[in-house]
Amino acid sequence: VVRVSDPSGGTMASDSSSPTPMPAVSLIVPTFNEAANIDELLDGVCAAIPAGLEVEVLFVDDSTDDTPEVIEKAAARCPMPVSVLHREVPEGGLGGAVVAGIARTSAPWIMVMDADLQHPPELLPQLIEAGERAAAELVVASRYAEGGSRGGLAGGYRVAVSGASTALTKSLFPRLLRGVSDPMSGCFAIRREAVDRAVQEGETRQEGGLRPLGYKILLELAVRCRPRGVVEVPYEFGERFAGESKSTVREGLRFLRHLAELRTSDKRARMVAFGLIGVSGFVPNLLALWALTGATTLHYAVAEVLANQLGVLWNFALLDFLVYRSGKPGRGAGRLLGFAALSNADLLARIPLMMLFVEQAGMGPVPATVISLVVVFALRFLLVDTLIYRR
Ligand code: GDD
Ligand code: MN
Repeated sequence: VVRVSDPSGGTMASDSSSPTPMPAVSLIVPTFNEAANIDELLDGVCAAIPAGLEVEVLFVDDSTDDTPEVIEKAAARCPMPVSVLHREVPEGGLGGAVVAGIARTSAPWIMVMDADLQHPPELLPQLIEAGERAAAELVVASRYAEGGSRGGLAGGYRVAVSGASTALTKSLFPRLLRGVSDPMSGCFAIRREAVDRAVQEGETRQEGGLRPLGYKILLELAVRCRPRGVVEVPYEFGERFAGESKSTVREGLRFLRHLAELRTSDKRARMVAFGLIGVSGFVPNLLALWALTGATTLHYAVAEVLANQLGVLWNFALLDFLVYRSGKPGRGAGRLLGFAALSNADLLARIPLMMLFVEQAGMGPVPATVISLVVVFALRFLLVDTLIYRR
């Protein structure tokens, strides 16, 4: 077992002592407390691999139980190299584990499969063969393709959540996911070349690279690597062999965040998100203005200066959490101060504009504020996007 506390450190240990031929497939299996599934999974994988296909297996483990020791014992009776990377810092959850596994393996095909046997081990040769035949860079095992089924999704609730999140994801990436019926699949094979391309891009551009967050690692790879050629292999999602699912409501929220970040990774999409969040900030701002001018004797210009702070806070919270998740410079408080300063700078333009509408055109302060907000809006995006987040 290799134990790493620094996720970028550590080396890979192989349990096979004899020199083995270069593997064609690196099978990466993320595990979180799956001790009771390991024997069954490794037996299944061994039985499924046809003669002539070289496979190395790497478990990337974040367990708190004895899963790594169980894997080591089972590995001894496997014909192929099997190793475990245990992470002391489980950064990025399931997706982070897969990316750590990608970095520590080398075969031209990378395959990912869960440890609980919901993905039948026979998929391994099937996916690789389908990818080779079609010269595709990505092969997705799909529950939703013709001939597949989601039998093992327990209960109407999980079926509904899975269906809704698949539909939402496909609607956010209509072109990219055109040929993918199951973008949430946890079982797929991708050519290393495609991943390397995205990682290299990440070094030169802030928008490239991999930033996995939780369960949906396939989505991360499909969006960031833009694989050339995608095919699907239908399969029947089985019942869990032992133990229970590790997915939680918290994991669901993480997924929404992941989606928001992936969708806003280019500047144009970010501008749309900025606009939507900004417009939503009009609501607290105008409500506060309406309340302050109604309930106090404050001058409307002073009331708007105060009311604006509520809108600023609202906008910052949503932007900082959803749109600018990674690559945040400095501390939260520092970003809030910078953001608030820029957001309030617009008052210098807005207050005179607003007074013009009120004094000269006889408008009420609330409609005058609406117009002033819209006018100054575009300017604000450009300033925040370039000065606070340096995109
Ligand atoms: N290393 C690591 N770290 N592994 C994890 C973590 C983690 O934080 N969380 C879960 N895993 C491992 C589990 O041990 C299991 O091997 C695999 O990831 C999947 O976890 P499950 O909890 O069994 O997920 P699921 O059955 O609800 O959903 C799976 O299948 C769906 C259909 O393919 C996931 O793969 C989903 O992403 C997928 O949509
Ligand atoms: Mn499962």
